[in-house]
Amino acid sequence: MTEKDILKALMNVEDPDLKKDIVTLGMVRNIEIEGKKVSFTIVLTTPACPMKEMIHRASENAVKFLVDKEAEVNITMSSEVTSLRDKNNVLPGVKNIIAVASGKGGVGKSTIAVNLALGLAQLGAKVGLLDGDIYGPSIPLMLGMEEEKPLLEDFEGKNYMIPLEKFGIKILSVGFLVDKMQPVVWRGPMVSNAIRQFVNDVRWGELDYLILDLPPGTGDVHITIAQAANISGVVMVTTPQEVSLNDCRKAIGMFAMQGINIPLLGVVENMAYFIPAELPENKYYIFGKDGGKKIAEEFKLPFLGEVPIYQSIQEGGDAGNPVVLGTGPDAIALQQIAQNVAQQIAMMNAG
Ligand SMILES: Nc1ncnc2c1ncn2[C@@H]1O[C@H](COP(=O)(O)OP(=O)(O)OP(=O)(O)O)[C@@H](O)[C@H]1O
Ligand SMILES: [Mg+2]
Repeated sequence: MTEKDILKALMNVEDPDLKKDIVTLGMVRNIEIEGKKVSFTIVLTTPACPMKEMIHRASENAVKFLVDKEAEVNITMSSEVTSLRDKNNVLPGVKNIIAVASGKGGVGKSTIAVNLALGLAQLGAKVGLLDGDIYGPSIPLMLGMEEEKPLLEDFEGKNYMIPLEKFGIKILSVGFLVDKMQPVVWRGPMVSNAIRQFVNDVRWGELDYLILDLPPGTGDVHITIAQAANISGVVMVTTPQEVSLNDCRKAIGMFAMQGINIPLLGVVENMAYFIPAELPENKYYIFGKDGGKKIAEEFKLPFLGEVPIYQSIQEGGDAGNPVVLGTGPDAIALQQIAQNVAQQIAMMNAG
């Protein structure tokens, strides 16, 4: 057995998401051969990849069937989140910046942003959460951090903010800096400056994913934030009713505009339906049915998942206890979205 034999055999193993073989994708590392013993590492591109077992088995079989029936194959499975972000640009230590956006307000962006960030961390990724809603920051409340203040640190003669940490992720919000009873009145140029500072003057360290919660709507602020942060992709959140879908179409149009051109990772349908606890077989489509799925089809975007209306989500949000940390059907729906977002990022980064 030679290294070349092994690589040739492993070229028959395809990553089902990335639609290329694992050798071409550069996933096979550290091949060592000693007699009949062969060991190597396969580096997948999403944490806790659901295809892990399948790729492991296929790789072992490829070596046994195509190189040597008697080979003793020892494969270490690991993962490394990929990145397309420019290392010379803002936040070079951050591999992927994912904005959570919507056209209409109140559809659950902040809820999805918080639970997505924590869901990705549960998969084993290094995650940050930036509350980009400078007008109505809600992340501090949703994480039970309203009284906290980020520290400042002097680094190479410049002041940097240090994000706070909770539930295993790093967090920063304008809400940590301003009085919550005081209306925040930002004027055009102030907004741009504040945003730039907020993006540039923070020591996030190394992150696999930075989740950015955007304010509702489509406007200058969104474009400023998106461009200042050099965003990798956008998750669109909508509720199923037509008024929300229409605003969602506008928002999708804005990110796709020439000169802005930010990739859309897919659509989340929030408040998809309601199931009363005492009648668990009944689904009530209070806001209409499948609106988010239809938008996804209309724009040929991936559908990232649906989240029903759960009282627990609202209560958890108000109490600073994100439901994704639990084990119920509410948590599972949100974990699935995190998994799907990680998958879409990996697919986008693989080209
Ligand atoms: N699936 C859900 N089930 C129950 N309540 C939900 C659900 N999603 C969001 N909520 C609740 O709806 C309210 C609005 O959600 P959220 O603040 O996340 O929306 P938003 O889009 O960020 O709003 P804004 O546009 O003001 O930033 C919150 O009280 C939240 O807890
Ligand atoms: Mg919000």
